[in-house]
Amino acid sequence: MSHVPAPVDATRTSAWKALRRHHDELVEQGIDLRAWFAADPDRASSLSYEAGGLHFDLSKNIVTAETLDLLVDLARQVGVEERRDAMYRGEHINTTEDRAVLHTALRRPKEQTGELIVDGQDVVADVHEVLDRMYAFAERVRSGEWKGVSGCRIEHLVSIGIGGSDLGPVMAYEAMRPFADAGIDCRYISNIDPNDMAAKVAGLDPQTTLVIIVSKTFTTLETLTNAREVKEWMLTELQRSGAIDGTAASRADAIRAHFVAVSTALDHVEEFGIDPKNAFGFWRWVGGRYSVDSAVGLSLIIVFGPDRFKSFLAGFHEMDEYFQQTPLERNVIALMGLLNVWYVNFFHTQSHAVLPYCQYLHRFPAYLQQLTMESNGKSVRWDGEVVTSATGEVFWGEPGTNGQHAFYQLLHQGTVIVPADFIAFANTANPAVDAGQDVHELLLGNFLAQTKALAFGKTAEEVRAEGTPEQIVPARIFTGNRPTTSIMADELTPFALGELIALYEHITFVQGTIWGIDSFDQWGVELGKQLAKEITPAFHDDDALRRQDASTQALIRFYRDHRR
Ligand code: F6P
Repeated sequence: MSHVPAPVDATRTSAWKALRRHHDELVEQGIDLRAWFAADPDRASSLSYEAGGLHFDLSKNIVTAETLDLLVDLARQVGVEERRDAMYRGEHINTTEDRAVLHTALRRPKEQTGELIVDGQDVVADVHEVLDRMYAFAERVRSGEWKGVSGCRIEHLVSIGIGGSDLGPVMAYEAMRPFADAGIDCRYISNIDPNDMAAKVAGLDPQTTLVIIVSKTFTTLETLTNAREVKEWMLTELQRSGAIDGTAASRADAIRAHFVAVSTALDHVEEFGIDPKNAFGFWRWVGGRYSVDSAVGLSLIIVFGPDRFKSFLAGFHEMDEYFQQTPLERNVIALMGLLNVWYVNFFHTQSHAVLPYCQYLHRFPAYLQQLTMESNGKSVRWDGEVVTSATGEVFWGEPGTNGQHAFYQLLHQGTVIVPADFIAFANTANPAVDAGQDVHELLLGNFLAQTKALAFGKTAEEVRAEGTPEQIVPARIFTGNRPTTSIMADELTPFALGELIALYEHITFVQGTIWGIDSFDQWGVELGKQLAKEITPAFHDDDALRRQDASTQALIRFYRDHRR
Protein backbone atom coordinates (compact mmCIF):
# COMPACT_ATOMS: atom_id res chain seq x y z
CA MET A 1 0.00 0.00 0.00
CA SER A 2 1.08 3.54 -0.57
CA HIS A 3 1.96 5.88 2.27
CA VAL A 4 0.71 9.18 0.99
CA PRO A 5 -0.12 11.64 3.76
CA ALA A 6 -3.79 12.62 4.09
CA PRO A 7 -4.65 15.72 2.10
CA VAL A 8 -4.62 19.11 3.75
CA ASP A 9 -8.22 20.34 3.83
CA ALA A 10 -7.95 23.46 1.67
CA THR A 11 -11.08 24.98 3.15
CA ARG A 12 -9.48 25.07 6.59
CA THR A 13 -6.33 26.91 5.53
CA SER A 14 -5.77 30.58 6.30
CA ALA A 15 -5.35 31.18 2.55
CA TRP A 16 -8.84 29.84 1.82
CA LYS A 17 -10.33 32.10 4.49
CA ALA A 18 -8.40 35.07 3.09
CA LEU A 19 -9.65 34.21 -0.41
CA ARG A 20 -13.22 34.13 0.86
CA ARG A 21 -12.78 37.61 2.40
CA HIS A 22 -11.05 38.87 -0.72
CA HIS A 23 -13.83 37.51 -2.94
CA ASP A 24 -16.51 39.21 -0.85
CA GLU A 25 -14.62 42.50 -0.94
CA LEU A 26 -14.24 42.33 -4.71
CA VAL A 27 -17.94 41.68 -5.13
CA GLU A 28 -18.82 44.46 -2.74
CA GLN A 29 -16.53 46.96 -4.47
CA GLY A 30 -17.79 45.80 -7.86
CA ILE A 31 -15.91 43.57 -10.26
CA ASP A 32 -15.05 45.86 -13.13
CA LEU A 33 -12.49 44.83 -15.71
CA ARG A 34 -12.88 48.13 -17.56
CA ALA A 35 -11.96 50.04 -14.43
CA TRP A 36 -9.15 47.65 -13.53
CA PHE A 37 -7.58 48.05 -16.98
CA ALA A 38 -8.03 51.83 -16.86
CA ALA A 39 -6.43 52.06 -13.41
CA ASP A 40 -3.45 49.91 -14.29
CA PRO A 41 -1.88 50.45 -17.72
CA ASP A 42 0.47 47.51 -17.01
CA ARG A 43 -2.31 45.04 -16.23
CA ALA A 44 -2.00 43.16 -19.54
CA SER A 45 1.77 42.86 -19.34
CA SER A 46 1.94 42.03 -15.64
CA LEU A 47 -0.63 39.25 -16.09
CA SER A 48 0.98 37.80 -19.23
CA TYR A 49 3.34 34.84 -19.15
CA GLU A 50 5.62 32.95 -21.55
CA ALA A 51 6.19 29.22 -21.29
CA GLY A 52 7.97 27.17 -23.92
CA GLY A 53 7.10 29.63 -26.68
CA LEU A 54 3.43 29.79 -25.69
CA HIS A 55 2.02 33.15 -24.69
CA PHE A 56 -0.62 33.37 -21.96
CA ASP A 57 -2.74 36.40 -21.16
CA LEU A 58 -4.55 36.06 -17.84
CA SER A 59 -5.43 39.76 -17.62
CA LYS A 60 -9.07 39.28 -18.66
CA ASN A 61 -9.71 37.11 -15.63
CA ILE A 62 -11.41 38.27 -12.45
CA VAL A 63 -8.13 38.61 -10.61
CA THR A 64 -6.00 41.21 -8.97
CA ALA A 65 -2.41 40.85 -7.83
CA GLU A 66 -3.80 40.03 -4.39
CA THR A 67 -5.96 37.21 -5.79
CA LEU A 68 -2.95 35.53 -7.32
CA ASP A 69 -0.88 35.98 -4.15
CA LEU A 70 -3.60 34.35 -2.09
CA LEU A 71 -4.04 31.51 -4.58
CA VAL A 72 -0.30 30.84 -4.45
CA ASP A 73 -0.48 30.86 -0.64
CA LEU A 74 -3.27 28.30 -0.91
CA ALA A 75 -1.17 26.08 -3.18
CA ARG A 76 1.74 26.26 -0.71
CA GLN A 77 -0.44 25.56 2.31
CA VAL A 78 -2.00 22.54 0.61
CA GLY A 79 1.39 21.24 -0.55
CA VAL A 80 1.02 21.37 -4.34
CA GLU A 81 4.80 21.53 -4.83
CA GLU A 82 5.47 18.54 -2.58
CA ARG A 83 2.80 16.42 -4.31
CA ARG A 84 4.09 17.49 -7.73
CA ASP A 85 7.61 16.41 -6.78
CA ALA A 86 6.30 13.14 -5.35
CA MET A 87 4.53 12.49 -8.66
CA TYR A 88 7.66 13.18 -10.71
CA ARG A 89 9.68 10.90 -8.38
CA GLY A 90 7.29 8.00 -9.02
CA GLU A 91 5.72 7.75 -5.57
CA HIS A 92 2.41 5.90 -5.49
CA ILE A 93 0.24 9.01 -5.32
CA ASN A 94 -2.61 7.12 -7.03
CA THR A 95 -3.62 5.67 -3.68
CA THR A 96 -6.80 3.79 -4.56
CA GLU A 97 -4.93 1.79 -7.19
CA ASP A 98 -1.60 1.88 -5.33
CA ARG A 99 0.25 3.11 -8.41
CA ALA A 100 2.89 5.60 -9.39
CA VAL A 101 1.73 8.36 -11.75
CA LEU A 102 4.49 8.79 -14.26
CA HIS A 103 3.18 10.15 -17.53
CA THR A 104 5.99 12.73 -17.21
CA ALA A 105 8.47 9.84 -17.61
CA LEU A 106 7.00 9.00 -21.03
CA ARG A 107 8.59 12.12 -22.45
CA ARG A 108 11.89 12.19 -20.62
CA PRO A 109 14.84 12.24 -23.03
CA LYS A 110 16.97 9.12 -23.43
CA GLU A 111 19.91 10.86 -21.76
CA GLN A 112 18.01 10.60 -18.48
CA THR A 113 18.25 6.81 -18.56
CA GLY A 114 19.25 5.58 -15.11
CA GLU A 115 17.96 8.69 -13.34
CA LEU A 116 14.51 7.40 -12.41
CA ILE A 117 14.28 3.99 -10.81
CA VAL A 118 10.74 3.22 -9.68
CA ASP A 119 9.65 -0.04 -8.08
CA GLY A 120 13.01 -1.46 -9.19
CA GLN A 121 12.59 -0.49 -12.84
CA ASP A 122 14.67 1.95 -14.87
CA VAL A 123 11.60 3.73 -16.17
CA VAL A 124 13.27 5.93 -18.81
CA ALA A 125 15.18 2.96 -20.25
CA ASP A 126 11.91 1.00 -20.51
CA VAL A 127 10.16 3.91 -22.20
CA HIS A 128 12.88 4.30 -24.83
CA GLU A 129 13.13 0.58 -25.49
CA VAL A 130 9.46 0.61 -26.57
CA LEU A 131 9.77 3.93 -28.40
CA ASP A 132 12.71 2.62 -30.43
CA ARG A 133 10.78 -0.52 -31.38
CA MET A 134 7.79 1.58 -32.39
CA TYR A 135 9.94 3.94 -34.45
CA ALA A 136 11.51 0.97 -36.29
CA PHE A 137 8.11 -0.62 -36.89
CA ALA A 138 6.62 2.68 -38.08
CA GLU A 139 9.48 3.20 -40.53
CA ARG A 140 8.83 -0.23 -42.02
CA VAL A 141 5.17 0.62 -42.55
CA ARG A 142 5.88 4.12 -43.86
CA SER A 143 8.55 2.94 -46.30
CA GLY A 144 6.39 0.12 -47.67
CA GLU A 145 8.75 -2.57 -46.40
CA TRP A 146 5.92 -3.90 -44.23
CA LYS A 147 3.46 -5.59 -46.55
CA GLY A 148 -0.08 -6.86 -46.22
CA VAL A 149 -0.75 -10.55 -46.77
CA SER A 150 -1.08 -10.07 -50.53
CA GLY A 151 2.12 -8.04 -50.80
CA CYS A 152 0.49 -4.59 -50.87
CA ARG A 153 1.88 -1.52 -49.17
CA ILE A 154 -0.15 -0.21 -46.21
CA GLU A 155 -2.10 2.95 -47.03
CA HIS A 156 -4.72 2.99 -44.27
CA LEU A 157 -4.72 2.43 -40.55
CA VAL A 158 -7.74 1.49 -38.49
CA SER A 159 -7.19 2.16 -34.80
CA ILE A 160 -9.60 0.49 -32.38
CA GLY A 161 -9.77 1.76 -28.79
CA ILE A 162 -11.94 3.83 -26.49
CA GLY A 163 -11.51 6.51 -23.83
CA GLY A 164 -7.84 7.18 -23.29
CA SER A 165 -7.01 4.60 -25.93
CA ASP A 166 -8.86 6.64 -28.54
CA LEU A 167 -9.52 10.27 -27.61
CA GLY A 168 -5.85 11.29 -27.47
CA PRO A 169 -4.81 9.63 -30.74
CA VAL A 170 -7.89 10.94 -32.62
CA MET A 171 -7.42 14.45 -31.29
CA ALA A 172 -3.70 14.49 -32.11
CA TYR A 173 -4.29 12.91 -35.54
CA GLU A 174 -6.74 15.67 -36.40
CA ALA A 175 -4.48 18.35 -34.93
CA MET A 176 -1.37 17.25 -36.84
CA ARG A 177 -3.07 16.53 -40.18
CA PRO A 178 -0.96 19.02 -42.16
CA PHE A 179 2.15 17.05 -41.14
CA ALA A 180 1.04 13.68 -42.59
CA ASP A 181 3.66 12.80 -45.18
CA ALA A 182 3.65 9.06 -45.87
CA GLY A 183 0.41 8.72 -47.81
CA ILE A 184 -1.15 6.84 -44.89
CA ASP A 185 -4.41 7.87 -43.24
CA CYS A 186 -6.09 6.59 -40.09
CA ARG A 187 -9.67 5.93 -39.09
CA TYR A 188 -10.56 5.48 -35.44
CA ILE A 189 -13.28 3.12 -34.19
CA SER A 190 -14.38 3.48 -30.58
CA ASN A 191 -18.12 3.21 -30.00
CA ILE A 192 -19.67 -0.22 -29.52
CA ASP A 193 -22.47 1.02 -31.76
CA PRO A 194 -22.12 -1.05 -34.98
CA ASN A 195 -22.76 2.14 -36.94
CA ASP A 196 -19.32 3.40 -35.96
CA MET A 197 -17.50 0.42 -37.45
CA ALA A 198 -19.76 0.35 -40.53
CA ALA A 199 -18.94 3.97 -41.28
CA LYS A 200 -15.21 3.57 -40.67
CA VAL A 201 -14.57 0.46 -42.78
CA ALA A 202 -16.78 1.68 -45.64
CA GLY A 203 -14.70 1.91 -48.81
CA LEU A 204 -11.54 0.52 -47.19
CA ASP A 205 -9.38 -1.97 -49.04
CA PRO A 206 -8.38 -4.61 -46.47
CA GLN A 207 -5.29 -5.52 -48.51
CA THR A 208 -3.82 -2.08 -47.81
CA THR A 209 -5.14 -1.72 -44.25
CA LEU A 210 -3.32 -2.26 -40.97
CA VAL A 211 -5.38 -2.50 -37.79
CA ILE A 212 -4.04 -1.29 -34.45
CA ILE A 213 -5.89 -2.54 -31.38
CA VAL A 214 -5.27 -0.18 -28.48
CA SER A 215 -6.35 -1.19 -25.00
CA LYS A 216 -4.45 -0.76 -21.78
CA THR A 217 -6.24 -3.71 -20.18
CA PHE A 218 -7.17 -5.62 -23.36
CA THR A 219 -10.44 -6.48 -21.62
CA THR A 220 -12.59 -3.47 -22.57
CA LEU A 221 -15.92 -4.64 -23.96
CA GLU A 222 -16.19 -2.04 -26.71
CA THR A 223 -12.65 -2.48 -27.97
CA LEU A 224 -12.60 -6.26 -27.95
CA THR A 225 -16.01 -6.47 -29.60
CA ASN A 226 -14.94 -4.06 -32.32
CA ALA A 227 -11.61 -5.85 -32.71
CA ARG A 228 -13.34 -9.20 -33.29
CA GLU A 229 -15.78 -7.57 -35.72
CA VAL A 230 -13.00 -5.92 -37.69
CA LYS A 231 -11.04 -9.19 -37.71
CA GLU A 232 -14.06 -10.94 -39.19
CA TRP A 233 -14.55 -8.17 -41.76
CA MET A 234 -10.87 -8.28 -42.69
CA LEU A 235 -10.72 -12.07 -43.11
CA THR A 236 -14.00 -12.24 -45.03
CA GLU A 237 -12.99 -9.46 -47.40
CA LEU A 238 -9.48 -10.84 -47.94
CA GLN A 239 -10.96 -14.22 -48.80
CA ARG A 240 -13.58 -12.67 -51.08
CA SER A 241 -10.84 -10.87 -53.01
CA GLY A 242 -8.77 -14.06 -53.26
CA ALA A 243 -5.94 -12.65 -51.14
CA ILE A 244 -6.26 -15.60 -48.72
CA ASP A 245 -7.76 -19.04 -49.22
CA GLY A 246 -9.63 -19.40 -45.91
CA THR A 247 -7.47 -22.13 -44.41
CA ALA A 248 -6.52 -21.68 -40.75
CA ALA A 249 -2.91 -21.04 -41.76
CA SER A 250 -3.78 -18.33 -44.27
CA ARG A 251 -6.14 -16.68 -41.79
CA ALA A 252 -3.38 -16.70 -39.16
CA ASP A 253 -0.94 -15.18 -41.67
CA ALA A 254 -3.46 -12.47 -42.48
CA ILE A 255 -3.96 -11.60 -38.82
CA ARG A 256 -0.20 -11.38 -38.28
CA ALA A 257 0.20 -9.11 -41.33
CA HIS A 258 -2.78 -6.85 -40.67
CA PHE A 259 -3.13 -6.62 -36.88
CA VAL A 260 -0.84 -5.10 -34.27
CA ALA A 261 -1.59 -4.13 -30.69
CA VAL A 262 -0.81 -1.69 -27.93
CA SER A 263 -1.48 -2.83 -24.38
CA THR A 264 -0.15 -3.43 -20.89
CA ALA A 265 -1.59 -6.98 -21.08
CA LEU A 266 0.61 -8.54 -23.73
CA ASP A 267 -0.54 -12.11 -22.93
CA HIS A 268 -4.10 -11.28 -24.06
CA VAL A 269 -2.71 -9.80 -27.27
CA GLU A 270 -1.13 -13.10 -28.24
CA GLU A 271 -4.40 -14.94 -27.61
CA PHE A 272 -5.99 -12.67 -30.22
CA GLY A 273 -3.52 -14.02 -32.82
CA ILE A 274 -1.21 -11.02 -32.93
CA ASP A 275 2.49 -11.71 -33.18
CA PRO A 276 4.05 -10.59 -29.85
CA LYS A 277 6.82 -8.95 -31.90
CA ASN A 278 4.16 -6.54 -33.15
CA ALA A 279 2.75 -5.70 -29.73
CA PHE A 280 3.88 -2.56 -27.95
CA GLY A 281 3.57 -2.28 -24.22
CA PHE A 282 3.19 0.40 -21.65
CA TRP A 283 2.88 0.36 -17.90
CA ARG A 284 0.43 0.41 -15.01
CA TRP A 285 1.75 3.84 -14.04
CA VAL A 286 0.36 5.40 -17.24
CA GLY A 287 -3.29 6.35 -16.79
CA GLY A 288 -5.44 5.82 -19.90
CA ARG A 289 -6.22 9.53 -20.23
CA TYR A 290 -2.52 10.36 -19.81
CA SER A 291 -1.32 7.88 -22.42
CA VAL A 292 -1.35 9.51 -25.87
CA ASP A 293 2.42 9.96 -25.59
CA SER A 294 2.99 6.26 -24.82
CA ALA A 295 2.65 3.33 -27.24
CA VAL A 296 -0.99 4.44 -27.48
CA GLY A 297 0.30 7.02 -29.96
CA LEU A 298 1.47 4.32 -32.44
CA SER A 299 -0.93 5.47 -35.16
CA LEU A 300 0.56 8.96 -34.89
CA ILE A 301 4.11 7.67 -35.31
CA ILE A 302 3.11 5.80 -38.45
CA VAL A 303 1.14 8.65 -40.02
CA PHE A 304 3.46 11.52 -39.06
CA GLY A 305 6.80 9.77 -38.60
CA PRO A 306 9.17 9.25 -35.65
CA ASP A 307 10.74 12.73 -35.89
CA ARG A 308 7.41 14.47 -35.48
CA PHE A 309 6.48 12.20 -32.59
CA LYS A 310 9.82 13.02 -30.95
CA SER A 311 9.00 16.69 -31.35
CA PHE A 312 5.52 16.05 -29.86
CA LEU A 313 7.19 14.41 -26.82
CA ALA A 314 9.68 17.28 -26.56
CA GLY A 315 6.74 19.69 -26.29
CA PHE A 316 5.34 17.75 -23.34
CA HIS A 317 8.75 17.62 -21.70
CA GLU A 318 9.25 21.35 -22.11
CA MET A 319 6.09 21.99 -20.10
CA ASP A 320 6.93 19.27 -17.55
CA GLU A 321 10.19 21.03 -16.80
CA TYR A 322 8.56 24.43 -16.71
CA PHE A 323 5.87 23.19 -14.31
CA GLN A 324 8.43 21.57 -12.04
CA GLN A 325 11.02 24.35 -12.05
CA THR A 326 9.10 27.62 -12.18
CA PRO A 327 8.22 29.23 -8.85
CA LEU A 328 4.48 29.17 -8.31
CA GLU A 329 4.22 32.97 -8.45
CA ARG A 330 5.27 32.96 -12.13
CA ASN A 331 4.17 29.43 -12.98
CA VAL A 332 1.33 30.00 -15.43
CA ILE A 333 0.33 26.32 -15.39
CA ALA A 334 -0.13 26.38 -11.63
CA LEU A 335 -1.86 29.76 -11.85
CA MET A 336 -4.36 28.47 -14.43
CA GLY A 337 -5.17 25.49 -12.19
CA LEU A 338 -5.57 27.82 -9.22
CA LEU A 339 -7.78 30.17 -11.21
CA ASN A 340 -10.08 27.26 -11.99
CA VAL A 341 -10.30 26.59 -8.25
CA TRP A 342 -11.01 30.30 -7.68
CA TYR A 343 -13.94 30.19 -10.08
CA VAL A 344 -15.37 26.83 -8.99
CA ASN A 345 -15.13 27.37 -5.26
CA PHE A 346 -15.63 31.10 -4.87
CA PHE A 347 -17.80 32.02 -7.88
CA HIS A 348 -19.59 28.64 -8.00
CA THR A 349 -18.98 28.13 -11.70
CA GLN A 350 -19.78 24.64 -12.91
CA SER A 351 -18.39 24.53 -16.40
CA HIS A 352 -15.34 25.65 -18.30
CA ALA A 353 -15.18 26.26 -22.03
CA VAL A 354 -12.12 25.58 -24.18
CA LEU A 355 -12.44 27.39 -27.49
CA PRO A 356 -9.71 26.73 -30.04
CA TYR A 357 -9.56 29.20 -32.93
CA CYS A 358 -8.05 26.48 -35.08
CA GLN A 359 -10.12 23.87 -36.91
CA TYR A 360 -7.41 21.25 -36.48
CA LEU A 361 -8.06 21.32 -32.72
CA HIS A 362 -11.73 20.42 -33.16
CA ARG A 363 -11.39 17.30 -31.01
CA PHE A 364 -9.33 19.02 -28.29
CA PRO A 365 -12.32 19.87 -26.05
CA ALA A 366 -13.55 16.26 -26.28
CA TYR A 367 -10.09 15.04 -25.33
CA LEU A 368 -10.02 17.43 -22.38
CA GLN A 369 -13.38 16.14 -21.19
CA GLN A 370 -11.86 12.79 -20.31
CA LEU A 371 -8.63 14.28 -19.02
CA THR A 372 -10.31 16.73 -16.67
CA MET A 373 -13.64 15.11 -15.81
CA GLU A 374 -12.48 11.52 -15.35
CA SER A 375 -9.66 12.94 -13.24
CA ASN A 376 -11.44 15.47 -11.06
CA GLY A 377 -15.11 14.49 -11.10
CA LYS A 378 -14.93 12.99 -7.60
CA SER A 379 -16.62 13.37 -4.21
CA VAL A 380 -14.12 11.69 -1.92
CA ARG A 381 -10.52 12.55 -1.18
CA TRP A 382 -7.54 10.26 -1.54
CA ASP A 383 -7.81 9.32 2.15
CA GLY A 384 -11.44 8.21 1.69
CA GLU A 385 -12.98 11.23 3.43
CA VAL A 386 -15.73 13.20 1.73
CA VAL A 387 -14.47 16.32 -0.06
CA THR A 388 -15.03 19.61 1.70
CA SER A 389 -15.68 21.77 -1.37
CA ALA A 390 -17.04 21.56 -4.91
CA THR A 391 -14.73 19.72 -7.33
CA GLY A 392 -14.43 19.20 -11.11
CA GLU A 393 -16.13 21.37 -13.71
CA VAL A 394 -17.78 20.26 -16.94
CA PHE A 395 -15.29 20.97 -19.72
CA TRP A 396 -16.67 21.57 -23.16
CA GLY A 397 -16.14 23.59 -26.32
CA GLU A 398 -16.09 23.85 -30.08
CA PRO A 399 -13.73 25.58 -32.45
CA GLY A 400 -14.31 29.26 -33.07
CA THR A 401 -16.08 30.65 -35.02
CA ASN A 402 -18.59 27.77 -35.06
CA GLY A 403 -19.26 28.22 -31.36
CA GLN A 404 -19.93 31.91 -31.89
CA HIS A 405 -22.97 31.02 -33.97
CA ALA A 406 -24.18 28.45 -31.46
CA PHE A 407 -23.61 28.94 -27.74
CA TYR A 408 -21.71 32.22 -27.30
CA GLN A 409 -25.03 34.00 -26.68
CA LEU A 410 -25.09 32.31 -23.28
CA LEU A 411 -21.43 33.12 -22.64
CA HIS A 412 -22.12 36.82 -23.25
CA GLN A 413 -25.55 37.33 -21.74
CA GLY A 414 -26.56 34.21 -19.81
CA THR A 415 -27.05 34.12 -16.05
CA VAL A 416 -24.18 31.70 -15.47
CA ILE A 417 -20.51 32.57 -15.65
CA VAL A 418 -18.45 30.22 -17.81
CA PRO A 419 -14.70 30.82 -17.59
CA ALA A 420 -13.21 30.17 -21.03
CA ASP A 421 -9.78 29.45 -22.48
CA PHE A 422 -9.27 30.80 -26.00
CA ILE A 423 -6.47 29.21 -28.03
CA ALA A 424 -5.12 30.78 -31.22
CA PHE A 425 -2.08 30.59 -33.49
CA ALA A 426 -0.20 33.38 -35.29
CA ASN A 427 0.25 31.21 -38.39
CA THR A 428 -1.94 28.78 -40.27
CA ALA A 429 -1.06 25.72 -42.32
CA ASN A 430 -3.47 26.88 -45.02
CA PRO A 431 -3.09 30.59 -45.78
CA ALA A 432 -5.96 31.99 -47.84
CA VAL A 433 -7.00 35.38 -49.13
CA ASP A 434 -10.59 36.34 -49.92
CA ALA A 435 -11.28 39.60 -51.73
CA GLY A 436 -7.93 40.94 -50.58
CA GLN A 437 -8.55 39.89 -46.97
CA ASP A 438 -6.28 37.38 -45.22
CA VAL A 439 -8.79 34.77 -44.00
CA HIS A 440 -6.64 33.70 -41.05
CA GLU A 441 -6.72 37.32 -39.88
CA LEU A 442 -10.51 37.22 -40.04
CA LEU A 443 -10.38 34.24 -37.70
CA LEU A 444 -7.94 35.97 -35.34
CA GLY A 445 -10.03 39.15 -35.43
CA ASN A 446 -12.96 37.10 -34.18
CA PHE A 447 -10.89 35.51 -31.41
CA LEU A 448 -9.81 38.95 -30.17
CA ALA A 449 -13.28 40.43 -30.54
CA GLN A 450 -14.87 37.71 -28.44
CA THR A 451 -12.42 37.95 -25.55
CA LYS A 452 -12.75 41.74 -25.64
CA ALA A 453 -16.56 41.64 -25.67
CA LEU A 454 -16.65 39.12 -22.83
CA ALA A 455 -14.30 41.20 -20.70
CA PHE A 456 -15.50 44.74 -21.34
CA GLY A 457 -19.08 44.32 -22.53
CA LYS A 458 -21.23 47.17 -23.76
CA THR A 459 -22.98 49.66 -21.51
CA ALA A 460 -26.53 51.01 -21.82
CA GLU A 461 -25.07 54.40 -22.80
CA GLU A 462 -23.08 52.82 -25.59
CA VAL A 463 -26.14 50.96 -26.81
CA ARG A 464 -28.25 54.14 -26.74
CA ALA A 465 -25.52 56.08 -28.54
CA GLU A 466 -26.10 53.77 -31.50
CA GLY A 467 -29.70 55.01 -31.72
CA THR A 468 -31.20 51.83 -30.30
CA PRO A 469 -34.93 52.18 -29.41
CA GLU A 470 -35.23 52.44 -25.63
CA GLN A 471 -37.39 49.33 -25.18
CA ILE A 472 -34.70 47.03 -26.58
CA VAL A 473 -31.73 48.68 -24.88
CA PRO A 474 -31.69 46.15 -22.00
CA ALA A 475 -31.55 43.22 -24.43
CA ARG A 476 -28.51 44.74 -26.13
CA ILE A 477 -26.43 45.41 -23.03
CA PHE A 478 -23.36 43.22 -22.41
CA THR A 479 -22.37 43.18 -18.75
CA GLY A 480 -18.77 42.15 -19.48
CA ASN A 481 -16.56 40.87 -16.63
CA ARG A 482 -16.81 37.36 -18.04
CA PRO A 483 -13.44 35.73 -17.48
CA THR A 484 -11.22 34.45 -20.27
CA THR A 485 -7.63 33.30 -20.67
CA SER A 486 -5.98 33.74 -24.05
CA ILE A 487 -3.30 31.29 -25.15
CA MET A 488 -1.32 32.01 -28.31
CA ALA A 489 1.41 30.13 -30.11
CA ASP A 490 3.37 30.59 -33.31
CA GLU A 491 1.79 27.65 -35.14
CA LEU A 492 0.06 24.36 -34.31
CA THR A 493 3.10 22.08 -34.61
CA PRO A 494 3.54 18.65 -32.97
CA PHE A 495 5.73 20.41 -30.38
CA ALA A 496 3.05 23.01 -29.57
CA LEU A 497 0.41 20.29 -29.36
CA GLY A 498 2.51 18.33 -26.85
CA GLU A 499 2.86 21.52 -24.83
CA LEU A 500 -0.88 22.18 -24.83
CA ILE A 501 -1.68 18.65 -23.66
CA ALA A 502 0.91 18.77 -20.86
CA LEU A 503 -0.44 22.18 -19.87
CA TYR A 504 -3.90 20.77 -19.23
CA GLU A 505 -2.55 17.61 -17.57
CA HIS A 506 -0.78 19.74 -15.00
CA ILE A 507 -3.68 22.17 -14.59
CA THR A 508 -5.83 19.12 -13.79
CA PHE A 509 -3.22 17.95 -11.27
CA VAL A 510 -3.14 21.31 -9.48
CA GLN A 511 -6.92 21.39 -9.12
CA GLY A 512 -7.07 17.78 -7.91
CA THR A 513 -4.39 18.47 -5.31
CA ILE A 514 -6.16 21.53 -3.93
CA TRP A 515 -9.36 19.48 -3.64
CA GLY A 516 -7.51 16.55 -2.06
CA ILE A 517 -8.66 14.05 -4.65
CA ASP A 518 -6.89 11.22 -6.44
CA SER A 519 -7.00 12.52 -10.01
CA PHE A 520 -5.66 9.25 -11.35
CA ASP A 521 -8.31 6.64 -10.59
CA GLN A 522 -11.72 6.32 -12.28
CA TRP A 523 -13.93 4.11 -10.13
CA GLY A 524 -16.95 6.10 -11.26
CA VAL A 525 -16.99 4.29 -14.60
CA GLU A 526 -17.27 0.82 -13.06
CA LEU A 527 -20.90 0.58 -11.91
CA GLY A 528 -22.32 1.20 -15.38
CA LYS A 529 -20.01 -1.45 -16.88
CA GLN A 530 -21.08 -3.99 -14.24
CA LEU A 531 -24.79 -3.26 -14.70
CA ALA A 532 -24.55 -3.46 -18.49
CA LYS A 533 -23.32 -7.05 -18.08
CA GLU A 534 -26.28 -7.89 -15.85
CA ILE A 535 -28.90 -6.11 -17.96
CA THR A 536 -27.95 -7.23 -21.47
CA PRO A 537 -29.22 -10.85 -20.98
CA ALA A 538 -32.65 -9.42 -20.02
CA PHE A 539 -33.37 -8.61 -23.66
CA HIS A 540 -34.03 -12.34 -24.12
CA ASP A 541 -34.20 -13.90 -20.67
CA ASP A 542 -37.36 -13.39 -18.59
CA ASP A 543 -35.67 -14.23 -15.28
CA ALA A 544 -33.04 -11.61 -15.93
CA LEU A 545 -35.81 -9.19 -16.90
CA ARG A 546 -37.67 -9.78 -13.61
CA ARG A 547 -34.52 -8.94 -11.64
CA GLN A 548 -34.53 -5.39 -13.05
CA ASP A 549 -36.20 -2.32 -11.54
CA ALA A 550 -39.60 -1.25 -12.91
CA SER A 551 -38.24 1.50 -15.15
CA THR A 552 -35.56 -0.70 -16.71
CA GLN A 553 -38.12 -3.49 -17.23
CA ALA A 554 -40.48 -1.11 -19.03
CA LEU A 555 -37.71 0.13 -21.31
CA ILE A 556 -36.66 -3.42 -22.14
CA ARG A 557 -40.28 -4.32 -22.89
CA PHE A 558 -40.44 -1.40 -25.30
CA TYR A 559 -37.36 -2.78 -27.02
CA ARG A 560 -38.81 -6.31 -27.12
CA ASP A 561 -42.05 -5.00 -28.62
CA HIS A 562 -40.31 -3.00 -31.32
CA ARG A 563 -37.25 -5.00 -32.34
CA ARG A 564 -37.29 -6.44 -35.84
O1 F6P B 1 -13.71 4.45 -19.21
C1 F6P B 1 -12.82 3.89 -18.32
C2 F6P B 1 -11.51 3.54 -18.94
O2 F6P B 1 -10.86 2.69 -18.06
C3 F6P B 1 -10.65 4.75 -19.26
O3 F6P B 1 -10.00 5.26 -18.17
C4 F6P B 1 -9.76 4.17 -20.29
O4 F6P B 1 -9.07 5.19 -20.97
C5 F6P B 1 -10.75 3.42 -21.13
O5 F6P B 1 -11.65 2.87 -20.19
C6 F6P B 1 -10.20 2.36 -22.03
O6 F6P B 1 -9.56 1.34 -21.33
P1 F6P B 1 -8.57 0.33 -22.04
O7 F6P B 1 -7.44 1.13 -22.62
O8 F6P B 1 -8.10 -0.60 -20.96
O9 F6P B 1 -9.31 -0.40 -23.12
